[in-house]
Amino acid sequence: MISLSHGSKIHCGLSLCHILNTRASHTYYLGLLDLTLNSFHIGLISRRPGEPPLDKGFIPWLGHALEFGRDAAKFMTDMRKKHGDIYTVQAAGKFVTVLLDPHSYEAVLWESRSKLDFGQYARILMDRMFEVKLPDYDPNAEKCLQKTLQNKNLPTLTKAMFFNLRTILLSDPDRASQQWKEEGLFHLSYNSLIYPGFLTLYGNEGKDYEDSRNQAKDLAFSLEIYTEFYKLDRLLMKAARSILSAGWCVWKHLWKLLSVKRLDCRANRSVWLDSYKQHLVDLGLDENMQTRAMLLQLWSTQSNAGPAVFWLLLFLLKYPSAMAAVQGEMETAHPFLVNSALNEMLRLTAAPFITREVLQDMCLRLADGREYSLRKGDRLCLFPFISPQMDPEIYEEPEVKYDRFLNSDGTEKTDFYKGGKSLKYYSMPWGAGINVCIGKFLAVNSIKQLDYKFHHCWQLVMLAGADGDWSPTTVGGLQVGEGWCRQY
Ligand code: HEM
Repeated sequence: MISLSHGSKIHCGLSLCHILNTRASHTYYLGLLDLTLNSFHIGLISRRPGEPPLDKGFIPWLGHALEFGRDAAKFMTDMRKKHGDIYTVQAAGKFVTVLLDPHSYEAVLWESRSKLDFGQYARILMDRMFEVKLPDYDPNAEKCLQKTLQNKNLPTLTKAMFFNLRTILLSDPDRASQQWKEEGLFHLSYNSLIYPGFLTLYGNEGKDYEDSRNQAKDLAFSLEIYTEFYKLDRLLMKAARSILSAGWCVWKHLWKLLSVKRLDCRANRSVWLDSYKQHLVDLGLDENMQTRAMLLQLWSTQSNAGPAVFWLLLFLLKYPSAMAAVQGEMETAHPFLVNSALNEMLRLTAAPFITREVLQDMCLRLADGREYSLRKGDRLCLFPFISPQMDPEIYEEPEVKYDRFLNSDGTEKTDFYKGGKSLKYYSMPWGAGINVCIGKFLAVNSIKQLDYKFHHCWQLVMLAGADGDWSPTTVGGLQVGEGWCRQY
């Protein structure tokens, strides 16, 4: 999660992740250290009694910003060894309290928005990264709107995803050729999900999914979107607008592609898109700002699921026994094994920072009865990747186990322990509590559909030599061969 290279961990949580109740990825760095660069208050801060241990680092104001930025997981783990499972660090002028006791996460995840706020910081990032300014921001209205990604709309979205996936995988002459083809697994996964993911939410050229002219136009447009989106995603990883000026044309190009005028003409738009557009109109935003918000939403809804597909595929290719077991189960009504493999992959790769702004002085009571004062203006951060997800006390066998989340009777395993006590939050790739991922069910459906289609339509084979080190830094360049055994 630290390397900002593609093919590395899935970043969500914090940052834009869910800016606007949306997701962001790759930008934890922005999240924690963020944009306090404007708030140069070097003042001498003395901590009050009852506050968590404070580590200001050696460099005034900057504090631990560099270590944090370099390798946040290592830094947080080192600090935990020094101070225990709750501590405060100074980083770029900001005081960030880090809590790493999963038994105590509940107190943060369900705390009222008047004390621990998710949206304030997201709004800063919206402006910084996408130049989106929303007046009269109401998180409750926003939340209701985002719920159109779930519940009664989910079957329609899943069906649209099915048709769009079919268009993408089967009507593209390049993909539909019977020839073996070599392609980077990351690109293959990312674009195979973004093409249909974009079409499902933002609509098609024409109403009829089966019409070949519409399909050709959909393919061309989603390719253009993906190409620019990929550039944007890489630029965002550079984290600060100041170093982005060179890439500003990418934003402009995407604004052109996603202009609300253009989107209004599309068929099969999702209820979510129309509701969101109406929401922006009701807020009184002009078309220019509406378009910027559409780009922000594209990034927020698409940037995490592609990397998740990549990791799942890699995971299955790497472990043929897992692949065989999962394939055997795919067509059954109870895909417990597929779910377990996906959960295991997310446990090992999803690294959301769950970040909240402290809006008023407050007391945080931990599960073991300890109480700490949190100070208004500070930031609170949970990092479930360190604990529970990578905690050897909870997950004793460190190696990948595709059936880790499966009981011997075939049902989902949900009992995991720390300190002899059962854990409510034993893995948190989707966050939890008030701000749990609203797109979770759509993302899971899409990942599974894509995975199913991949295995059904093609034969994927790792190239000789690719099956070596698959750590996040090397894996981005991994090559796989695809046998194009078309079965449709
Ligand atoms: C593998 C893919 C995904 C992962 C790992 C993921 C992860 C997360 C996490 C960790 C949060 C909580 C952030 C926090 O509490 O600070 C979150 C929130 C959210 N996610 Fe996702 N997400 C994914 C895909 C999606 C998709 C596809 C959508 C929409 C189409 C989506 C929409 C949202 C929204 C709207 C929220 C904010 C919820 C709120 O405001 O309460 N996510 N996601």
